[in-house]
Amino acid sequence: MAKSRSTFVCQNCGAITNRWQGRCDSCHEWNSIVEETPGTPSAARLGRGRPFNLEGLSGEGPAAPRLRTGIDEFDRVTGGGFVLGSVTLLGGEPGIGKSTLLIQACAELARRGSRVIYISGEEAVTQVRLRAARLGLADAPVELASATQVEDILATCSTGRRAALIVIDSIQTMHVESVDSSPGTVTQVRASAQALLRHGKSTGSSIILVGHVTKDGQVAGPRVVEHMVDAVLSFEGDGAHHFRMLRASKNRFGATGEIGVFEMTGLGLAEVANPSALFLAGRDAGAPGAAVLAGMEGQRPMLIEIQALVAPSSLGTPRRAVVGFDSNRLAMILAVLEAHGGLKLGAHDVYLNVAGGMRADEPAADLAAAAALVSSLTGAPLPPTQVYFGEIGLSGAVRPVIHAGARLKEAGKLGFARAVLSQTQQLNDDDKGAGVTARAIGDVSALVAEI
Ligand code: TYD
Ligand code: MG
Repeated sequence: MAKSRSTFVCQNCGAITNRWQGRCDSCHEWNSIVEETPGTPSAARLGRGRPFNLEGLSGEGPAAPRLRTGIDEFDRVTGGGFVLGSVTLLGGEPGIGKSTLLIQACAELARRGSRVIYISGEEAVTQVRLRAARLGLADAPVELASATQVEDILATCSTGRRAALIVIDSIQTMHVESVDSSPGTVTQVRASAQALLRHGKSTGSSIILVGHVTKDGQVAGPRVVEHMVDAVLSFEGDGAHHFRMLRASKNRFGATGEIGVFEMTGLGLAEVANPSALFLAGRDAGAPGAAVLAGMEGQRPMLIEIQALVAPSSLGTPRRAVVGFDSNRLAMILAVLEAHGGLKLGAHDVYLNVAGGMRADEPAADLAAAAALVSSLTGAPLPPTQVYFGEIGLSGAVRPVIHAGARLKEAGKLGFARAVLSQTQQLNDDDKGAGVTARAIGDVSALVAEI
């Protein structure tokens, strides 16, 4: 047998070299290369995989059994619950609320009679208990353990009744005895995830791995795991606000467009079933410079307020600042309003803010942003029951966007009466039945004339 040799793995990007270097050739990070001895050999063996015909599987098989957490906003994102035996990675910045969300989900499941195991590698059992007690979950029969050794964890999980759900918080703290490198290294994270994955597939227990990622998603651990797991969920939020969004960026058993919205309260995470109402709460509808965008977050319509402030500048080069909006898109909208809308903005400071700590990244936000800008410049408030959606082209034309029907329905549901949109936007009878009058416009000059 060949002698096993050490490899040198970049902890930033996962690149492998056969000697130590001060700087990774692949991602150019300094001091990120760590010596690691080889992990467990790959489990794939020739001759094991008997092929099946895809054809023979058609339609007849029962739908994959799923485990619903009972938290609707969570189940929506996973596509109706975790598929039995699937492995999900839940990523997010430290402190965003991953542990809180999962302990709440575990408690819900355990109360309904499933065996649920929550393994914390970061907190002691008493700490997890205290948190659960504070959240009013102390009575839920969740099995808690504080452990970091994967072999021990799997031994615990294999005794007794099959666990419906096993939560590993977090994958960076886990280590496998047979691999000789410290926890958190790429090799350990990969080996631990592999062992847990095999356990899930062979027993049918669903597994959730928690993974910490930094602001730019640069920790190597979770990145490596993303390729191995069935679903990758990310928990995002804005530190200054209490909203949290759960999204799926990969899901082998469902769509990835769904999002779940939560609010961090003193009693843990509360579901936000109607985010539009929350985001529009407290808006000053009569003030100039505020427009409501009928936007989409993935597959979900969401009404968001876009606020603009346009004021004469005392600086040689006027200021342009954005929060929650792309600055290049703002520059483009301003240029189009000058060239095709007849506005003079060159001597004005321009600020654009998306309320509630949200981001408005889709092209459909152009029209709402333009309406807010024009309204602030002219000092004329926009009609309080009007929403906007449409993309603005460099020619000044307002272009159609996707999901017009869902946007109109959401606007109708929240009591809006009129929607300003592109005149080339196709609407079917069903869309028109949303109770919202469509005001179709061709270009930005029509928008300016309206305000
Ligand atoms: P936590 O779930 O520990 O985050 P993560 O596991 O992603 O690191 O949540 C940490 C934050 O959530 C903490 O800073 C305080 C806040 N929090 C509340 O506001 N209310 C609560 O009821 C709980 C449990 C936490
Ligand atoms: Mg945590």
